[in-house]
Amino acid sequence: TYIIAEPCVDLLDRACVEECPVDCIYEGDRMLYIQPDECVDCGACEPVCPVEAIFYEDDVPDEWEPYVNANVDFFDDLGSPGGASKVGKTSHDPAFIKGLPPMNT
Ligand code: F3S
Ligand code: F3S
Repeated sequence: TYIIAEPCVDLLDRACVEECPVDCIYEGDRMLYIQPDECVDCGACEPVCPVEAIFYEDDVPDEWEPYVNANVDFFDDLGSPGGASKVGKTSHDPAFIKGLPPMNT
């Protein structure tokens, strides 16, 4: 799966959402998250993010390793809805994301 990391926080550019062929990029309050079971590893989202927030899971920089779990934990309650557009914005951001100081403002 691909992972969204810290540069997305409070920016939420959403260019990635337009590229994803399976609509598996879900919006939280502070950033967007990729549903790891729905992502088909096509790589289409990665080059379009203007702040390079998206990485293949094995290529996530060490400083952003916690975001691998964040992209999993966001879906603890949501599960695998099978499409982000029908779900819309939800407040399932993991605790450490919710606690981050304001960024990109
Ligand atoms: Fe975030 Fe980049 Fe997508 S800022 S919403 S990961 S295009
Ligand atoms: Fe979607 Fe492909 Fe990225 S399935 S999340 S655009 S790697």
